[in-house]
Amino acid sequence: MSNHPPLRRYHAPVWDEPLAMEMSVAGRRGQHYPIVDADDLVPAAMRRQAPPELPEISEPDVLRHYLRLSQQTMGMMGISLFGTCTMKYNPRLHEKLAAGPHVAEMHPEQHPDTMQGLLECVWRLEDALKALSGMARFSFQPAGGADAAYTQACITRAYHAAHGDADRRTQIVTSIQSHPCNPATAAAAGFDIVTLPLESNGYPSIQALRAALSDRTAALFINNPDDMGVYNPEIRDWVDAVHAAGGLCFYDHANFNGVMGKIRAADLGFDACMFMLHKTFGVPKGGGGPAVGAYGCTEKLAPFLPGPLVAKDGNGFAVEPGAASSIGRVREYWGNIHQVMKAYGWVAAMGAEGIAEASDISVALNNYMEKKLLAIRGVTRSHPDQPGWRLEMTRYSLGQLYEETGVGGGDVQNRMADFGIDAFWMAHEPWIFPHPFTPEAGEMWSREDIDYWIAVLAHVCDEAYRDPDMVKSAPHNQAVGKLAGDDLDDPAVWATTWAAWQRKHGG
Ligand SMILES: Cc1ncc(COP(=O)(O)O)c(C=O)c1O
Repeated sequence: MSNHPPLRRYHAPVWDEPLAMEMSVAGRRGQHYPIVDADDLVPAAMRRQAPPELPEISEPDVLRHYLRLSQQTMGMMGISLFGTCTMKYNPRLHEKLAAGPHVAEMHPEQHPDTMQGLLECVWRLEDALKALSGMARFSFQPAGGADAAYTQACITRAYHAAHGDADRRTQIVTSIQSHPCNPATAAAAGFDIVTLPLESNGYPSIQALRAALSDRTAALFINNPDDMGVYNPEIRDWVDAVHAAGGLCFYDHANFNGVMGKIRAADLGFDACMFMLHKTFGVPKGGGGPAVGAYGCTEKLAPFLPGPLVAKDGNGFAVEPGAASSIGRVREYWGNIHQVMKAYGWVAAMGAEGIAEASDISVALNNYMEKKLLAIRGVTRSHPDQPGWRLEMTRYSLGQLYEETGVGGGDVQNRMADFGIDAFWMAHEPWIFPHPFTPEAGEMWSREDIDYWIAVLAHVCDEAYRDPDMVKSAPHNQAVGKLAGDDLDDPAVWATTWAAWQRKHGG
């Protein structure tokens, strides 16, 4: 008899729901707004010449429309062990904290004396990140992890230019398993990329690193643990080797959850690091959009930080412009301030001990999961010979399942959704292992939730051996069945606005 918990039945409602624009009936109203004499408020040159093309719908129709759309999606109803991007519950209280007038009604250009409370929160969060990393200063401007890596690329160039070495130092060294944004942003900033391969223990050899270093090395961009959950224990020697070659070291701390309160980037010798407020610090995920890749650096790089920064000034808080040597803004003001407030709420609620404990829980839960997942037929682990434990996540492969049944990772994802499980993340490109997947338990899911997730995967893998077509034709219980898939890669088909939809579909 299986020792897994029973699976719950689930079926999403199906509605043939039109687009909001298609529901429009001329003259129908959801709200009546007061007529304002715009002459005094908006300069003539900035005023619309024609009314915006908005759908005309009554309030109850709008409500029912969005209710039906939400019923068709699983939303947060599923258990989401997304992986490689720590997904956390976003406390409702923090939403309130960020939505209050002390944030929503502030304008960054208003006098600092009139927003001391907000500035204090920014400063306090920076103080906490300094304590967690050992860095000297933080900017919250970058709007995500990739943006923080881009900030580092710009700072790297500015630093070497200030030392008269920018023309020579043109190479960024990274590993094949670093997140693609590391080489991509460095290349976007004009650098050449040197990519190190992995050894059978899961990380590149220090000999390979040394062979890659030269007087052309500008910096090392590395994440550790990487997106397979492997921690490179030689990282201190890596940093020393890069510094000896005259390069800078940037720590992509997207996977900080596995080491929170255990190590500090500056203690390992790094010159800079970034934390994902939208992952590790309990803020909703929104890569590249309403997110924050908090970028921290040592005193050596602080003169290049984007401004403005918040500083303590006697008993109050002041806004400092960027230094003359700053790389300039990468985003507006202090970045996505709502996310900064939510992260501050998380840090304040957790405290230093709570943060370290969360890391312990996430590592323990991952290893609990790993033991159970590796007992499922068809599931193997990347780098099976790697000694020691993975940290907060593990990279698995469904390659064996595929070879034996023809059922691939995407099919398994689709079928798991039939039991109320949000799709897991497979792996960032390039895929080193066939049909990879990387669930991440984090610290917030209960053991019951984790057991349920494992039970669903075990059921689906078993089904793949018994009835592969059932899995390959999934999902069966969703509002929308199996998609052809290719449309998503075809810009001629998809449309993100009504105007684009009409243009592409001849509306
Ligand atoms: C290791 C690592 N670095 C950087 C990023 C990019 O972060 P963002 O999506 O916030 O741009 C990710 C995202 O998955 C990541 O896993």
